[in-house]
Order: sequence, then structure tokens, then C-alpha cells
Amino acid sequence: MRTAVCPGSFDPVTNGHLDVFARASTMADEVVVAVLINHSKAGLFTIEERIEILRDVVAPYPNIRVDAFHGLLVDYCRDHGIQAIVKGLRAVSDFDYELQMAQMNYRLAGLETLFISTNPLYSYLSSSLIKEVAKFGGDVSGLVPEAVLQRLQAKLSDTMGS
Ligand code: PNS
Repeated sequence: MRTAVCPGSFDPVTNGHLDVFARASTMADEVVVAVLINHSKAGLFTIEERIEILRDVVAPYPNIRVDAFHGLLVDYCRDHGIQAIVKGLRAVSDFDYELQMAQMNYRLAGLETLFISTNPLYSYLSSSLIKEVAKFGGDVSGLVPEAVLQRLQAKLSDTMGS
């Protein structure tokens, strides 16, 4: 495998995502973390903020870079010479949808998807759960990178204040 993509919304990136990026980076020559630009779904963090955070957290990995895309993932991969998608699987509940997407991406473009079993330390994590817990004052340290923790607190106090 040469270049692999780890696609997602990353609103925000969690330590579970980061674990998948790091493990993918040991198998591929290059890993692109690609943030989906979805104009119909407002997130907590803007696309620019997500990219900035991601660039910060992948900085220690020389073969991981961050980009954003819109439209079909298979088109992005074709245009950027990407050979495979790498996704984390947290639990059986992830499998149905991930399998559907993998099969559709293969049907559309012959693009392969490789699954990495999420580190059990992070198997219950999701970006939405992180936002919900943080919103109500729960401690999410150790579950998200430090760069997220700082921005999450600032972002939520702004949101609550407005
Ligand atoms: O973090 P998410 O929101 O679960 O990531 C989902 C993502 C971005 C991987 C998926 O929605 C996607 O690939 N979207 C791009 C549009 C596309 O190609 N859709 C068809 C998928 S078979």
C-alpha cells in the first residue's frame, strides 16, 4: 500500500481516531487524514478549526498529513492517487454501516477499505459523546488530545454564553 486515507468528520478528533491514524501510518507510506466538508451539517468546530487541530496532533508523524474534501470519497481518492481507505471499527454496531460504505466504495471505484480494530481503551469513544460529556462539565481528559481539550473548553464556554 502506498497512500491511504482516513476520512471522517473529526468534530473533534478523539484519541481513538489518533490511534487509528498512528497504526495506519506504520502500514502505508503516507496517510492522508481527510476531513469531510459537509455544508448541510453544522458542527461544533469549523472545518478550519478541525484541520488546525488535526495538523497539531499529527505533527509528530512525518508520513501523516491533513486535507479536506467534499463530494464522493472515491473521487477525492482518484484525484489524489490514494489506493485505500483505512477505518477504525469500535464494535459490531459500527460494522453494518462501515461494510455498506466499503462495498459501495469498491463498487464505485474498486477502492479497497481496510479496517483496524480500535484499541479497547477507546472503543466506547465517539466525537458526539465527547461533546455531550464536555458540554455538561464531564472530564474528557485522556480521551481527546490536549489540543482538543483546550479548544473544547473555550468553544463550549462561548456556545453556552451566547
Ligand atoms: O466521521 P464520519 O462522519 O462517520 O465519516 C463519514 C465519512 C466522511 C467517512 C463518509 O460519510 C464519507 O465518506 N462521506 C463522503 C461522501 C461519500 O463518499 N459517500 C458515499 C460513501 S459510500
